[in-house]
Amino acid sequence: MISNHLLFKLASGEVFGPDQPVALKLLGSERSFQALEGVAMELEDSLFPLLREVSIGIDPYEVFQDVEWALLIGAKPRGPGMERADLLDLNGQIFVEQGKALNAVASHNVKVIVVGNPCNTNALICLKNAPNIPAKNFHALTRLDENRAKCQLALKAGVFYDKVSNVTIWGNHSTTQVPDFLNARINSLPVKEVIKDHKWLEEEFTELIQKRGGLLIKKWGRSSAASTAMSIADAIKSLVTPTPEGDWFSSAVYTNGNPYGIAEDLVFSMPCRSKGDGDYELVKDIQFDDYLRKRIKKSEAELLAEKRCVAHLTGQGIAVCD
Ligand code: LMR
Repeated sequence: MISNHLLFKLASGEVFGPDQPVALKLLGSERSFQALEGVAMELEDSLFPLLREVSIGIDPYEVFQDVEWALLIGAKPRGPGMERADLLDLNGQIFVEQGKALNAVASHNVKVIVVGNPCNTNALICLKNAPNIPAKNFHALTRLDENRAKCQLALKAGVFYDKVSNVTIWGNHSTTQVPDFLNARINSLPVKEVIKDHKWLEEEFTELIQKRGGLLIKKWGRSSAASTAMSIADAIKSLVTPTPEGDWFSSAVYTNGNPYGIAEDLVFSMPCRSKGDGDYELVKDIQFDDYLRKRIKKSEAELLAEKRCVAHLTGQGIAVCD
């Protein structure tokens, strides 16, 4: 469902720009192959001027050949009442295979965005199985959380969401994620100067964002699809267009060398800026207070535990799940 929304945006030129031809290679499974054929037919029938090729397959070693962007969306989605940790082992294996295939046949500078949950740890599994691709090129999607945070801050402040900037989501795409209202701005002012109800920020706002994915699953009976697709498009656009002066975007990326003291060898959401060349750098001038540090530590602890639980998939020993 996410791909159904996303593919038409990619084909239209909305994501990579109006001058960039696109070749779409769709990876499915035996079970989904007919549906994949249907999507490919619809893409062809849409006569997108920039769409030069649509190919489909079920073997990642064929489909990933020379790809420059890999959007790893497919995984077993979380159902009602399930926590992301339940998906660790179920989905981890998919990302071992896809990491190995990317390593073998993709462009060596491929940019990888992992969406299937638990996406941070799946991205870590993927990058560990793709040693020829720079670890820096792997992202797990937290842009949806950033968009959710921007929307809720705008609603509370009574402004349009384009007035909200500098929103960081720290950590795991899970209920421990930290939507950072200390560094975020509304109309260029610190959020705390605009929204005086700090209790709302610390308690309601934070929980609203942390639990929004789960709430949506309860309402729909399935996980978010259209808004996820929108946020994948946003995540790519943020990497292929220069970040506006003074602003940044969130992406969960490899922590080695990070300036915030976050444990190394994790995929952790942090503030990034890009020159628009597909690459990014971490933002340096970030303020921390006790509240933010404590929350970040909690998300770090969760990701360290997830990492121990998939050690057999990352080549880091025997899995120990708490
Ligand atoms: C979301 O945030 O909506 C999705 O990642 C679904 C989920 O499992 O939370």
